Amino acid sequence: MLNYSFDMEKVKKEARYSRIYKQIDGIMDSENYPLSRMCTIAAVLHHKMDYFFWTGFYLLVDDELLVHSYQGPVACMKLKKDSGVCWACLNKRESVIVDDVESFPGHIACDSRSKSEIVIPLFNEKGCVYGVLDVDSNEKKSFDEVDALWLEKIVALINK
Ligand code: SME
Repeated sequence: MLNYSFDMEKVKKEARYSRIYKQIDGIMDSENYPLSRMCTIAAVLHHKMDYFFWTGFYLLVDDELLVHSYQGPVACMKLKKDSGVCWACLNKRESVIVDDVESFPGHIACDSRSKSEIVIPLFNEKGCVYGVLDVDSNEKKSFDEVDALWLEKIVALINK
């Protein structure tokens, strides 16, 4: 007999991201200023995704990663160069998923309640990385490839 395995949580997560993607895509039409778009993306994601404990952007300014629009508890303003998850994402130019922040060497803990994390790189039209979207959860193992895929699609809307 065939064994159909069906991950209902993944299906629900896909459906939720699909709805949020359409909502954000629609709002983007009203303004193309990138920082306004980032504020909106952070707000929609944070309020629609119940496991997002901290949701925000760090942008490269004079070779430093500085915090920009975010939702959630107060976070570090500046991230020490080449350390932590955000710099790892920026340097690799690819999304990074951390199941347990305590096991990530050099992880920067802005809030001790953060337990897992996902960081997505931001690319401009020329393909240069200019910052990251960072999301923390207060539970371990909150993020997977479904989050990475949809968050990558969502940040691409900043320059659409
Ligand atoms: N944990 C991040 C720092 C930013 S906070 O999570 C908001 C890092 O290690 O880069």
